[in-house]
Amino acid sequence: MNHFLSMKDLSEHELLRLIKESEELKETGIEPINRKLFAANLFFEPSTRTKMSFTIAQRRLGLESLDFNSDTSSVQKGETIYDTARTFEALGASVLVIRQSEEEILQPLADGLSIPVINAGDGKGEHPSQSLLDLLTIYQEYKKFTGLNVAIIGDIKHSRVARSNAYALSTLGANVYLSSKPEWQDSTLRFPYISIDEAVDKCDVVMLLRVQHERHQENDIINKTEYLDSYGLTIDREKRMKEHAIILHPAPVNRGVEIADSLVESGKSRIFKQMENGVYARMAIIKTLLENRGIIDAEIIGERTALVGR
Ligand code: NCD
Repeated sequence: MNHFLSMKDLSEHELLRLIKESEELKETGIEPINRKLFAANLFFEPSTRTKMSFTIAQRRLGLESLDFNSDTSSVQKGETIYDTARTFEALGASVLVIRQSEEEILQPLADGLSIPVINAGDGKGEHPSQSLLDLLTIYQEYKKFTGLNVAIIGDIKHSRVARSNAYALSTLGANVYLSSKPEWQDSTLRFPYISIDEAVDKCDVVMLLRVQHERHQENDIINKTEYLDSYGLTIDREKRMKEHAIILHPAPVNRGVEIADSLVESGKSRIFKQMENGVYARMAIIKTLLENRGIIDAEIIGERTALVGR
């Protein structure tokens, strides 16, 4: 693992290692890396949770976070994303976190850099760090993935979260089901589609997705109440979920659209736990990449003390 771009690239072993590493960081904490290292956070699309939890993860690891505002940067003068990334590398960043709207540019960008690149969401492509925190949340609940029934429900076609989770969960042996309004199905994801009613009856994990209004065309416009009744998690449907089943949502939540307002903070909801887990999952990703690249020394870090330079 040299970059963190797609859940498709990771084996079962690598996924399980990252989940364990996240858990261990949550349980034991970590002493900061001593030598000053910089992490560049390049967000070309809006973000609250992902950006903030990457920043907190970096600070907990002792890295200095370099913030970047695309509105006031040279991107406004026509500088490309690649040249912006190369600039941060030249300035001395040791790791790059990037969110931007195109699906095919990260691999070539990563190939052109000598530092690890973390995909923090690439358009409708993937969102692997969100997926890792979702996996951690599921693992904390069930201590396994094999045989678990997981339904990913909602705006599948426009969701990068759906894609990363479908890939990773199937690698880990879960039974992945998709559920969506017919127009928002995605034929490139080869998993069975079921109705939301079937999903709540049979699944251990009910993962809802935000309706991605900002990625929609005119014919995607929905009536919110009708959408909730036909495709969302209503109070009645929640009552039919299995006793032990849990509700996930990557947030931000459209309350009353994909999920009834009162269910966001209900007993089965793990939505805020997902956010909490995001910090540890992102610490694990950064730490693993820096170790794998020899930017920090795995053994020294293991002893929670110092590091060697890159
Ligand atoms: C997700 C994203 O940006 O893809 N949000 C997040 O990172 N927590 C999900 C979404 O916006 O719907």
